[in-house]
Amino acid sequence: MEVKLVNLTKIFSKKEGDVCAVDHINITIPNGKLVGLLGPSGCGKSTTLYMIAGLHRPSDGQIFFGETEVSKYPPEKRGIGLVFQNYALYPHLTVKENIMFPLENKKMPKKEALEKAQKYAALVGIENLMDRKPGQLSGGQQQRVAIARALVKEPEVLLLDEPLSNLDARLRLQTREEIKRIQKNTGVTTIFVTHDQEEAMSISDEIVVMNFGVVHQIGKPQDVYNEPIDMFVAKFLGTPPINILPAKVVNSKIKLFDDEFKEDVKIDFVEGQELNIGIRPEFVQIDENGKYEIHVEMVEYIGRDKSILFHFKGQESTCKAIVPSNLMVEPDSDIKINFNRFFLFDKEGKRLV
Ligand SMILES: Nc1ncnc2c1ncn2[C@@H]1O[C@H](COP(=O)(O)OP(=O)(O)O)[C@@H](O)[C@H]1O
Ligand SMILES: [Mg+2]
Repeated sequence: MEVKLVNLTKIFSKKEGDVCAVDHINITIPNGKLVGLLGPSGCGKSTTLYMIAGLHRPSDGQIFFGETEVSKYPPEKRGIGLVFQNYALYPHLTVKENIMFPLENKKMPKKEALEKAQKYAALVGIENLMDRKPGQLSGGQQQRVAIARALVKEPEVLLLDEPLSNLDARLRLQTREEIKRIQKNTGVTTIFVTHDQEEAMSISDEIVVMNFGVVHQIGKPQDVYNEPIDMFVAKFLGTPPINILPAKVVNSKIKLFDDEFKEDVKIDFVEGQELNIGIRPEFVQIDENGKYEIHVEMVEYIGRDKSILFHFKGQESTCKAIVPSNLMVEPDSDIKINFNRFFLFDKEGKRLV
């Protein structure tokens, strides 16, 4: 089921004044795809999801499921499955009863309900836990019960709100692969909310990057990473994060520190204009003929690569580089580098190059 959000807006009225949690967003979630809604805490992800679910009424705009506008439908009429961060299982019911609960609500005959419950329990790999109570399960198992309970209604749209946040690091990795597999197997259109960029990048067919209730960029994870539309997106994606170096236009040339940065950047600059140069850690190349002299502060091995903490000679703020592990770099040494790529942003963060 394609999900389309048109100028979708939510304003919360509070004593202190109105909060525009979601501000005229336009997103199309393609049928059968997993789309990650990504952004920092408070940027409006959950509010967006709850409007799609029918738990919040939009202040403006529309929601379409396929051709049908569902903006005014109650949640139970939308054909959605919803999974929250905190599982929200019924503690006094067994796993089986928890999964069957939505079907009994729909007055499905018991035998059929049980068959469906078993089918989805097997799909998420908890078929041998059916008689346990939620308190007897690990976090990852509980979350899989919650997913089975959401899937058992065979929803057209699956909505997941930070479903992995309460799991420890190892389980989080494992469960996210599981979610990806389940989504592929069922083909259910899925919207996955997270503030974790790595999680969103790894699981999503497409990501939607939001901040302050506004959509900054939509695209395939790798495309958004490689071609961020602005400095917010560039900074939000990637670990270690991108290095941002302040620069200025002097005599029609970009000056980084006191040197000319690149000769071949062709855009119309305003004299004195302030810019930001974005260098991802992997854009840094160690090069004995390199233009920039740096001081290496720390070297950290991270498997195939090593991460270098450094500062440019005569500068204070630190930067990070990622280079292949086999390159010799000593901590507390001076070396030269070049950049094999860069982004250029204006002062407001708009990408220029
Ligand atoms: N029920 C509510 N009443 C008032 N303000 C809310 C409510 N829910 C969320 N907000 C506000 O809306 C903004 C977006 O919140 P939310 O959608 O929960 O963000 P996220 O899920 O991205 O962390 C925040 O400023 C939050 O305080
Ligand atoms: Mg949230």
